[in-house]
Amino acid sequence: MSTHKEITKVTTNTLQRMKQQGEKISMLTAYDFSMARILDDAGIDVLLVGDSASNVMAGHETTLPITLDQMIYHAQSVVRAVDRCLVVVDLPFGSYQGNSKEALNSAIRVMKESGAHAIKLEGGAEVVESIKRIISAGVPVMGHLGLTPQSIYKFGTYAVRAKEDEEAELLVSNAHALQEAGCFAIVLEKIPAALGRRVSEELKIPIIGIGAGMHVDGQVLVMHDMLGINKDFSPRFLRRYLNMYDQVKEATQRYISDVKSKDFPNEQEQY
Ligand code: KIV
Repeated sequence: MSTHKEITKVTTNTLQRMKQQGEKISMLTAYDFSMARILDDAGIDVLLVGDSASNVMAGHETTLPITLDQMIYHAQSVVRAVDRCLVVVDLPFGSYQGNSKEALNSAIRVMKESGAHAIKLEGGAEVVESIKRIISAGVPVMGHLGLTPQSIYKFGTYAVRAKEDEEAELLVSNAHALQEAGCFAIVLEKIPAALGRRVSEELKIPIIGIGAGMHVDGQVLVMHDMLGINKDFSPRFLRRYLNMYDQVKEATQRYISDVKSKDFPNEQEQY
């Protein structure tokens, strides 16, 4: 008798089935082995190796500075940790906007060097040619519309996008273009809930929201925000499930105190 536990891996087909059956998709970001292992063990459906690593791991103000090599390093660590979930990796700023050949080369590097299952990139009609070329090489692509942080200097602000009709219509038409191009899912970031609902109802592929309301097909949060590792980021869409900043700080203070008072290590904690 085998003791091997069969694990049903999440694939892009699983996500499509979940949408059809009305089961919401859970997605979080991850950037390192240890946290990815916990999130996968907890049963998360999708882990996104987001370029938000630039903010939460490297301390940059924006997502722009992170490089393709750095994204691949994070992706390798996450892939080594997971047994079940789908791992999607962001193509970072400057690794795909040049032309579709550059985009394809970047996607191939991510897949070949990290072992991830799919890539994500930001943008609408302007990236359709690249998306088609990447998919034709066998790489699944997730789109990203609404607030696209790689364009923050074009927007000038992290405010809610597509509140006006013109931008909302453009977003809907871009969402259709991404679906036509073959994307298996789309992230919608920081848009009105009614618009999230409309896109989710009009499109066949899963729509995963971050600040896009309750009617989309799944939700994604940045892990550091959801666990309360960040203290000073409190957008309306965020629900914190832990207050890790204070908990880790308090544990560290107890450790410092035990070391200083010579309470640690004790007789049982030495050789
Ligand atoms: O990089 C990231 O964390 C993301 C999520 C906000 C969706 O793209």
